[in-house]
Amino acid sequence: KMNTPLSKLSSLPEAIQTAADYLTYAEERLSPEIWHYLQHGSASNISLQANRQALDAIQLMPRPLADVRRGQTTTTLFGQTLAHPIILAPLAYQCLYHPHGESATAMAANAQAGQFCVSSLASQTLEEIISAAGQPLWFQLYWQENRERTLKLLRRAIAAGYQAIVFTVDAPIKHATLQLPATVRAVNLEIPTSFPALTPQQSQVFDGWMAQAPRWEDLAWLRERTSLPLLIKGILHPEDAKQAIDLGCDGVVVSNHGGRVLDGAPASLVCLSQIVRAVAGRGTILFDSGIRNGRDVYKALALGADAVMLGRPYIWGLATAGALGVAHVIRLLRDELEMAMALTGSATLKEITNDKLHIS
Ligand code: FNR
Repeated sequence: KMNTPLSKLSSLPEAIQTAADYLTYAEERLSPEIWHYLQHGSASNISLQANRQALDAIQLMPRPLADVRRGQTTTTLFGQTLAHPIILAPLAYQCLYHPHGESATAMAANAQAGQFCVSSLASQTLEEIISAAGQPLWFQLYWQENRERTLKLLRRAIAAGYQAIVFTVDAPIKHATLQLPATVRAVNLEIPTSFPALTPQQSQVFDGWMAQAPRWEDLAWLRERTSLPLLIKGILHPEDAKQAIDLGCDGVVVSNHGGRVLDGAPASLVCLSQIVRAVAGRGTILFDSGIRNGRDVYKALALGADAVMLGRPYIWGLATAGALGVAHVIRLLRDELEMAMALTGSATLKEITNDKLHIS
Protein backbone atom coordinates (compact mmCIF):
# COMPACT_ATOMS: atom_id res chain seq x y z
CA LYS A 1 0.00 0.00 0.00
CA MET A 2 3.08 2.19 0.36
CA ASN A 3 3.02 5.36 -1.76
CA THR A 4 -0.50 4.95 -3.12
CA PRO A 5 -1.37 8.45 -4.36
CA LEU A 6 -4.11 9.81 -2.14
CA SER A 7 -6.37 10.65 -5.03
CA LYS A 8 -6.18 7.09 -6.36
CA LEU A 9 -7.29 5.47 -3.12
CA SER A 10 -11.00 5.06 -3.59
CA SER A 11 -11.65 2.14 -1.29
CA LEU A 12 -10.76 1.23 2.25
CA PRO A 13 -7.65 -0.79 3.03
CA GLU A 14 -8.40 -4.41 3.78
CA ALA A 15 -8.52 -6.00 7.20
CA ILE A 16 -9.28 -2.88 9.20
CA GLN A 17 -11.18 -3.82 12.29
CA THR A 18 -10.48 -0.96 14.66
CA ALA A 19 -9.60 2.71 14.43
CA ALA A 20 -6.08 1.84 15.60
CA ASP A 21 -5.64 -0.28 12.45
CA TYR A 22 -5.60 3.00 10.53
CA LEU A 23 -2.47 4.15 12.38
CA THR A 24 0.07 2.42 10.17
CA TYR A 25 -1.74 3.35 6.96
CA ALA A 26 -1.83 6.99 8.01
CA GLU A 27 1.78 7.05 9.10
CA GLU A 28 3.06 5.72 5.79
CA ARG A 29 1.10 8.38 3.92
CA LEU A 30 2.32 11.41 5.89
CA SER A 31 5.73 13.03 6.20
CA PRO A 32 7.57 12.41 9.49
CA GLU A 33 7.14 16.09 10.40
CA ILE A 34 3.37 16.07 9.91
CA TRP A 35 3.03 12.72 11.67
CA HIS A 36 4.95 14.06 14.65
CA TYR A 37 2.83 17.22 14.75
CA LEU A 38 -0.35 15.13 14.75
CA GLN A 39 0.62 12.44 17.21
CA HIS A 40 2.68 14.13 19.86
CA GLY A 41 1.77 15.95 23.03
CA SER A 42 3.68 18.78 24.62
CA ALA A 43 7.07 18.53 26.34
CA SER A 44 7.53 15.00 27.76
CA ASN A 45 4.12 13.64 26.70
CA ILE A 46 3.16 13.03 30.33
CA SER A 47 -0.42 14.25 29.96
CA LEU A 48 -0.76 12.51 26.59
CA GLN A 49 0.10 9.20 28.23
CA ALA A 50 -1.97 9.97 31.34
CA ASN A 51 -5.09 10.25 29.15
CA ARG A 52 -4.70 6.64 28.03
CA GLN A 53 -3.70 5.34 31.44
CA ALA A 54 -6.80 6.85 33.04
CA LEU A 55 -9.11 5.31 30.44
CA ASP A 56 -7.41 1.91 30.62
CA ALA A 57 -7.63 1.86 34.42
CA ILE A 58 -11.44 1.73 34.30
CA GLN A 59 -13.19 -1.58 33.74
CA LEU A 60 -16.61 -2.44 32.38
CA MET A 61 -18.73 -4.91 34.28
CA PRO A 62 -20.55 -7.43 32.06
CA ARG A 63 -24.28 -7.86 32.80
CA PRO A 64 -25.54 -10.72 30.64
CA LEU A 65 -29.13 -11.75 29.93
CA ALA A 66 -30.54 -8.22 29.87
CA ASP A 67 -33.07 -7.43 27.14
CA VAL A 68 -31.35 -4.91 24.89
CA ARG A 69 -33.34 -5.58 21.72
CA ARG A 70 -34.54 -1.95 21.59
CA GLY A 71 -30.94 -0.77 21.97
CA GLN A 72 -29.82 2.42 20.23
CA THR A 73 -27.23 5.16 20.58
CA THR A 74 -29.15 8.28 19.61
CA THR A 75 -28.87 11.49 21.56
CA THR A 76 -30.08 15.06 21.20
CA LEU A 77 -27.66 17.97 21.58
CA PHE A 78 -28.86 21.57 21.31
CA GLY A 79 -31.97 20.51 19.43
CA GLN A 80 -30.20 18.25 16.92
CA THR A 81 -30.74 14.51 17.06
CA LEU A 82 -27.53 12.58 16.46
CA ALA A 83 -27.30 8.86 15.73
CA HIS A 84 -24.44 8.51 18.20
CA PRO A 85 -22.56 10.65 20.77
CA ILE A 86 -19.24 10.82 18.87
CA ILE A 87 -18.53 14.38 17.74
CA LEU A 88 -15.48 15.10 15.60
CA ALA A 89 -13.20 17.46 17.53
CA PRO A 90 -11.77 20.63 16.00
CA LEU A 91 -8.36 19.83 14.55
CA ALA A 92 -6.39 22.47 12.68
CA TYR A 93 -5.16 22.40 9.06
CA GLN A 94 -6.81 19.22 7.76
CA CYS A 95 -5.46 19.71 4.22
CA LEU A 96 -2.18 18.54 5.74
CA TYR A 97 -3.63 15.04 5.83
CA HIS A 98 -5.74 14.80 2.69
CA PRO A 99 -6.39 17.18 -0.23
CA HIS A 100 -10.11 17.21 0.58
CA GLY A 101 -9.33 18.47 4.08
CA GLU A 102 -12.15 19.65 6.36
CA SER A 103 -14.76 19.13 3.61
CA ALA A 104 -14.10 15.39 3.68
CA THR A 105 -14.46 15.31 7.46
CA ALA A 106 -17.69 17.31 7.24
CA MET A 107 -19.18 14.91 4.69
CA ALA A 108 -18.27 11.93 6.84
CA ALA A 109 -19.85 13.45 9.93
CA ASN A 110 -23.10 13.95 8.07
CA ALA A 111 -22.97 10.51 6.43
CA GLN A 112 -22.77 8.98 9.91
CA ALA A 113 -25.55 11.27 11.22
CA GLY A 114 -23.15 12.98 13.61
CA GLN A 115 -21.52 16.34 14.12
CA PHE A 116 -18.18 18.04 13.37
CA CYS A 117 -16.70 21.08 15.05
CA VAL A 118 -14.66 23.09 12.54
CA SER A 119 -11.45 24.71 13.85
CA SER A 120 -10.65 28.43 13.67
CA LEU A 121 -7.46 27.13 12.05
CA ALA A 122 -9.29 25.30 9.25
CA SER A 123 -7.45 25.11 5.93
CA GLN A 124 -10.62 25.57 3.84
CA THR A 125 -13.16 28.37 4.05
CA LEU A 126 -15.98 28.12 6.59
CA GLU A 127 -18.45 28.50 3.74
CA GLU A 128 -17.08 25.68 1.56
CA ILE A 129 -16.87 23.28 4.51
CA ILE A 130 -20.50 23.83 5.49
CA SER A 131 -21.64 23.44 1.89
CA ALA A 132 -19.75 20.12 1.62
CA ALA A 133 -21.34 19.03 4.91
CA GLY A 134 -24.90 19.54 3.74
CA GLN A 135 -25.90 20.27 7.33
CA PRO A 136 -25.15 22.96 9.91
CA LEU A 137 -21.88 22.34 11.78
CA TRP A 138 -20.27 23.63 14.97
CA PHE A 139 -17.54 26.25 14.96
CA GLN A 140 -14.53 26.27 17.27
CA LEU A 141 -13.50 29.82 18.09
CA TYR A 142 -10.01 30.92 19.06
CA TRP A 143 -9.61 34.41 20.48
CA GLN A 144 -8.23 36.71 17.78
CA GLU A 145 -5.98 39.17 19.64
CA ASN A 146 -8.82 41.54 20.53
CA ARG A 147 -12.62 41.82 20.69
CA GLU A 148 -13.03 43.48 17.31
CA ARG A 149 -11.22 40.75 15.40
CA THR A 150 -12.83 37.99 17.43
CA LEU A 151 -16.31 39.38 16.75
CA LYS A 152 -15.59 39.55 13.03
CA LEU A 153 -14.70 35.86 12.93
CA LEU A 154 -17.70 34.91 15.10
CA ARG A 155 -20.06 36.85 12.81
CA ARG A 156 -18.63 35.18 9.74
CA ALA A 157 -19.26 31.73 11.24
CA ILE A 158 -22.81 32.67 12.23
CA ALA A 159 -23.51 34.04 8.74
CA ALA A 160 -22.14 30.85 7.17
CA GLY A 161 -24.70 28.81 9.14
CA TYR A 162 -22.74 27.33 12.03
CA GLN A 163 -25.13 26.39 14.79
CA ALA A 164 -22.99 26.15 17.93
CA ILE A 165 -19.84 27.92 19.11
CA VAL A 166 -17.09 26.07 20.97
CA PHE A 167 -14.72 28.63 22.49
CA THR A 168 -11.35 27.00 23.18
CA VAL A 169 -9.62 28.62 26.14
CA ASP A 170 -6.85 26.21 27.10
CA ALA A 171 -4.33 27.12 24.39
CA PRO A 172 -3.70 30.89 24.55
CA ILE A 173 -0.08 30.39 23.51
CA LYS A 174 0.41 29.07 20.02
CA HIS A 175 3.90 27.86 19.35
CA ALA A 176 4.66 27.25 15.71
CA THR A 177 5.46 23.55 16.06
CA LEU A 178 5.14 22.75 12.37
CA GLN A 179 6.45 24.57 9.34
CA LEU A 180 3.29 24.51 7.19
CA PRO A 181 3.62 23.66 3.51
CA ALA A 182 2.97 26.66 1.23
CA THR A 183 -0.44 25.27 0.19
CA VAL A 184 -1.86 24.90 3.70
CA ARG A 185 -2.82 27.82 5.91
CA ALA A 186 -5.52 29.17 8.19
CA VAL A 187 -7.57 30.66 5.35
CA ASN A 188 -10.31 32.07 7.58
CA LEU A 189 -8.02 34.23 9.70
CA GLU A 190 -6.63 37.66 9.08
CA ILE A 191 -2.90 38.10 9.24
CA PRO A 192 -2.07 38.72 12.89
CA THR A 193 -0.79 42.15 13.75
CA SER A 194 2.88 41.95 14.55
CA PHE A 195 3.82 41.92 18.21
CA PRO A 196 5.03 45.20 19.62
CA ALA A 197 8.75 44.78 20.14
CA LEU A 198 9.54 43.66 23.67
CA THR A 199 12.40 45.03 25.69
CA PRO A 200 14.90 42.46 26.99
CA GLN A 201 13.40 42.99 30.46
CA GLN A 202 9.91 42.08 29.28
CA SER A 203 8.49 38.58 29.19
CA GLN A 204 7.55 36.86 25.94
CA VAL A 205 4.85 35.00 27.85
CA PHE A 206 3.25 37.69 30.04
CA ASP A 207 3.90 40.82 27.99
CA GLY A 208 3.71 39.10 24.61
CA TRP A 209 1.32 36.17 24.23
CA MET A 210 -0.83 36.66 27.33
CA ALA A 211 -1.43 40.32 26.51
CA GLN A 212 -3.57 39.02 23.64
CA ALA A 213 -5.24 36.14 25.47
CA PRO A 214 -8.90 36.19 26.54
CA ARG A 215 -9.90 36.64 30.20
CA TRP A 216 -13.14 35.95 32.12
CA GLU A 217 -14.55 39.39 31.27
CA ASP A 218 -14.04 38.57 27.59
CA LEU A 219 -16.04 35.38 28.02
CA ALA A 220 -18.89 37.39 29.55
CA TRP A 221 -18.61 39.80 26.61
CA LEU A 222 -18.65 36.93 24.10
CA ARG A 223 -21.73 35.40 25.70
CA GLU A 224 -23.59 38.65 24.98
CA ARG A 225 -22.61 38.52 21.31
CA THR A 226 -24.45 35.39 20.20
CA SER A 227 -27.63 33.55 21.02
CA LEU A 228 -26.20 30.29 19.65
CA PRO A 229 -25.24 27.56 22.10
CA LEU A 230 -21.83 28.49 23.53
CA LEU A 231 -19.48 25.86 24.97
CA ILE A 232 -16.11 26.40 26.62
CA LYS A 233 -13.45 23.91 25.59
CA GLY A 234 -10.42 23.11 27.68
CA ILE A 235 -11.79 23.06 31.23
CA LEU A 236 -10.30 20.76 33.89
CA HIS A 237 -11.05 22.53 37.21
CA PRO A 238 -14.60 22.25 38.58
CA GLU A 239 -14.60 25.92 39.69
CA ASP A 240 -13.87 27.01 36.11
CA ALA A 241 -16.71 24.85 34.82
CA LYS A 242 -19.05 26.39 37.38
CA GLN A 243 -17.94 29.93 36.53
CA ALA A 244 -18.48 29.32 32.80
CA ILE A 245 -22.00 28.05 33.45
CA ASP A 246 -22.70 30.94 35.83
CA LEU A 247 -21.69 33.31 33.02
CA GLY A 248 -24.36 31.78 30.83
CA CYS A 249 -22.41 29.21 28.82
CA ASP A 250 -24.43 26.24 27.64
CA GLY A 251 -21.76 23.65 28.28
CA VAL A 252 -18.13 22.74 28.76
CA VAL A 253 -15.71 20.44 26.99
CA VAL A 254 -13.62 18.66 29.61
CA SER A 255 -10.30 18.39 27.79
CA ASN A 256 -6.55 18.68 28.16
CA HIS A 257 -6.31 19.32 24.42
CA GLY A 258 -5.10 15.79 23.75
CA GLY A 259 -2.10 16.38 26.04
CA ARG A 260 -0.81 19.15 23.77
CA VAL A 261 -0.72 22.22 26.01
CA LEU A 262 0.30 22.06 29.69
CA ASP A 263 2.35 18.91 30.11
CA GLY A 264 1.70 17.57 33.59
CA ALA A 265 -1.97 18.58 33.50
CA PRO A 266 -4.13 15.74 34.81
CA ALA A 267 -5.71 13.22 32.49
CA SER A 268 -8.94 14.68 31.21
CA LEU A 269 -10.90 11.65 32.48
CA VAL A 270 -9.69 12.14 36.05
CA CYS A 271 -11.30 15.60 36.08
CA LEU A 272 -14.65 14.55 34.64
CA SER A 273 -16.64 13.44 37.70
CA GLN A 274 -15.92 16.57 39.72
CA ILE A 275 -16.96 18.75 36.81
CA VAL A 276 -20.17 16.78 36.37
CA ARG A 277 -20.89 17.45 40.04
CA ALA A 278 -20.03 21.16 39.77
CA VAL A 279 -22.20 21.71 36.69
CA ALA A 280 -25.03 19.77 38.35
CA GLY A 281 -27.21 19.44 35.29
CA ARG A 282 -27.04 23.15 34.40
CA GLY A 283 -25.14 22.57 31.15
CA THR A 284 -24.01 20.04 28.59
CA ILE A 285 -20.78 18.18 29.31
CA LEU A 286 -18.57 16.94 26.52
CA PHE A 287 -15.40 14.97 27.09
CA ASP A 288 -12.26 14.55 25.00
CA SER A 289 -8.59 13.56 25.14
CA GLY A 290 -7.61 9.95 24.69
CA ILE A 291 -10.75 8.40 23.17
CA ARG A 292 -9.58 5.59 20.87
CA ASN A 293 -12.48 3.11 20.76
CA GLY A 294 -16.12 2.68 21.66
CA ARG A 295 -15.38 1.34 25.16
CA ASP A 296 -13.67 4.65 25.91
CA VAL A 297 -16.82 6.47 24.79
CA TYR A 298 -18.82 4.27 27.16
CA LYS A 299 -16.51 5.08 30.08
CA ALA A 300 -16.79 8.84 29.56
CA LEU A 301 -20.58 8.62 29.35
CA ALA A 302 -20.73 6.43 32.46
CA LEU A 303 -18.79 9.11 34.35
CA GLY A 304 -21.36 11.71 33.33
CA ALA A 305 -20.42 13.12 29.92
CA ASP A 306 -23.32 13.74 27.52
CA ALA A 307 -21.14 13.07 24.46
CA VAL A 308 -17.49 12.86 23.50
CA MET A 309 -15.21 14.54 21.01
CA LEU A 310 -12.87 12.38 18.98
CA GLY A 311 -9.49 13.77 17.89
CA ARG A 312 -6.54 12.03 16.26
CA PRO A 313 -8.23 8.72 15.29
CA TYR A 314 -10.49 10.28 12.66
CA ILE A 315 -7.47 12.01 11.15
CA TRP A 316 -5.90 8.56 10.68
CA GLY A 317 -8.96 7.66 8.62
CA LEU A 318 -8.81 10.96 6.73
CA ALA A 319 -5.14 10.50 5.82
CA THR A 320 -5.77 6.94 4.64
CA ALA A 321 -9.00 7.21 2.66
CA GLY A 322 -10.50 10.70 2.86
CA ALA A 323 -14.18 11.03 3.75
CA LEU A 324 -14.67 7.27 3.50
CA GLY A 325 -11.94 6.66 6.06
CA VAL A 326 -13.38 9.20 8.50
CA ALA A 327 -16.87 7.74 8.15
CA HIS A 328 -15.46 4.25 8.72
CA VAL A 329 -13.65 5.30 11.90
CA ILE A 330 -16.85 6.82 13.30
CA ARG A 331 -18.78 3.66 12.43
CA LEU A 332 -16.16 1.42 14.06
CA LEU A 333 -16.36 3.40 17.32
CA ARG A 334 -20.14 3.35 17.21
CA ASP A 335 -20.14 -0.43 16.70
CA GLU A 336 -17.79 -0.85 19.67
CA LEU A 337 -19.98 1.42 21.80
CA GLU A 338 -23.03 -0.67 20.88
CA MET A 339 -21.15 -3.84 21.79
CA ALA A 340 -20.12 -2.43 25.17
CA MET A 341 -23.71 -1.35 25.79
CA ALA A 342 -25.09 -4.76 24.86
CA LEU A 343 -22.63 -6.63 27.06
CA THR A 344 -23.35 -4.38 30.05
CA GLY A 345 -27.11 -4.48 29.62
CA SER A 346 -27.50 -0.87 28.51
CA ALA A 347 -30.10 -0.25 25.82
CA THR A 348 -29.82 3.53 25.70
CA LEU A 349 -27.16 6.12 26.51
CA LYS A 350 -29.11 7.02 29.66
CA GLU A 351 -28.62 3.46 30.89
CA ILE A 352 -24.84 3.88 30.74
CA THR A 353 -24.30 4.68 34.39
CA ASN A 354 -21.50 4.82 36.91
CA ASP A 355 -22.51 1.57 38.59
CA LYS A 356 -21.70 -0.32 35.37
CA LEU A 357 -18.03 0.56 35.80
CA HIS A 358 -15.63 -1.34 37.95
CA ILE A 359 -12.89 0.87 39.33
CA SER A 360 -10.38 -1.21 41.27
C1 FNR B 1 -5.94 19.71 18.15
N1 FNR B 1 -6.89 20.28 19.00
C2 FNR B 1 -7.45 21.50 18.68
N2 FNR B 1 -8.41 22.05 19.49
C3 FNR B 1 -9.00 23.22 19.16
O1 FNR B 1 -9.86 23.69 19.90
N3 FNR B 1 -8.64 23.87 18.01
C4 FNR B 1 -7.70 23.41 17.16
O2 FNR B 1 -7.41 24.01 16.13
C5 FNR B 1 -7.06 22.18 17.50
N4 FNR B 1 -6.08 21.66 16.70
C6 FNR B 1 -5.54 20.42 16.98
C7 FNR B 1 -4.60 19.86 16.12
C8 FNR B 1 -4.09 18.59 16.37
C9 FNR B 1 -3.09 17.99 15.42
C10 FNR B 1 -4.52 17.86 17.51
C11 FNR B 1 -4.02 16.47 17.78
C12 FNR B 1 -5.42 18.43 18.38
C13 FNR B 1 -7.39 19.53 20.17
C14 FNR B 1 -8.58 18.64 19.78
O3 FNR B 1 -9.72 19.40 19.53
C15 FNR B 1 -8.95 17.64 20.88
O4 FNR B 1 -9.12 18.32 22.11
C16 FNR B 1 -7.92 16.53 21.08
O5 FNR B 1 -7.39 16.11 19.84
C17 FNR B 1 -8.56 15.34 21.78
O6 FNR B 1 -7.61 14.38 22.08
P1 FNR B 1 -7.37 13.05 21.19
O7 FNR B 1 -8.72 12.45 20.88
O8 FNR B 1 -6.62 13.49 19.97
O9 FNR B 1 -6.55 12.22 22.11
